[in-house]
Amino acid sequence: MIAPSILSADFARLAEEAAAVSGADWLHVDVMDAHFVPNLTIGLPVVKSLLRATDIPLDCHLMIEDPDRWAIGYAEAGAYNVTVHAEAAADPVQLAKNLRAAGAKAGLSLKPGTPIEPYVDVLKHYDTLLVMSVEPGFGGQKFMADVLDKARTARRLVDTGHLRLVVEIDGGINADTIEQAAEAGVDCFVAGSAVYDATDPGQAVARLRAQAAQASPAR
Ligand code: DX5
Ligand code: ZN
Repeated sequence: MIAPSILSADFARLAEEAAAVSGADWLHVDVMDAHFVPNLTIGLPVVKSLLRATDIPLDCHLMIEDPDRWAIGYAEAGAYNVTVHAEAAADPVQLAKNLRAAGAKAGLSLKPGTPIEPYVDVLKHYDTLLVMSVEPGFGGQKFMADVLDKARTARRLVDTGHLRLVVEIDGGINADTIEQAAEAGVDCFVAGSAVYDATDPGQAVARLRAQAAQASPAR
């Protein structure tokens, strides 16, 4: 699956920018609060408008403090998947239950330096694992290949039936890096600059998907 990140889109033309990637699987929406990360982007009002403007399922990535309090609004608004950061959540199990009860898929994200092992039991309550392959906060950064070990661990836990998760990766995914991520067993690839800096964002999505499919191990 390919999830274009609108962080690299034109925020004044979000409906058109969503339409430009109509073949995408999910539309990735980066919510930043200038506290959990040193950047400020968009929040719930814009997500509500986007929900009316596109049929692509929204994948909301909340880089915010106190997601235990704020994430539920995105689920109630109709986001398809709501991802919170493990480093920010006080009670990630209860939070996942609340998100699911509100009708959304629940996602847990790990920053590059956060290991997966302490979260294996917590992840039993989640639908998505978002492995960050850059420090969260900005688009256009360089891919950190070290995090692929974490993706491989997650893939193994899924393939052996210990977890049932979409393994998603975010940061620095482009034509040069997507194959190694696919080989590691990633299911869903977020791409911001690689999609929206392209002349034809829709074609960029199709190309990335083809590259990932070719490199994915058969399973
Ligand atoms: C970074 C965001 C990413 C970002 C990715 O904190 O979570 O979703 O948009 O941008 P690229 O693909 O340009 O690295
Ligand atoms: Zn993101």
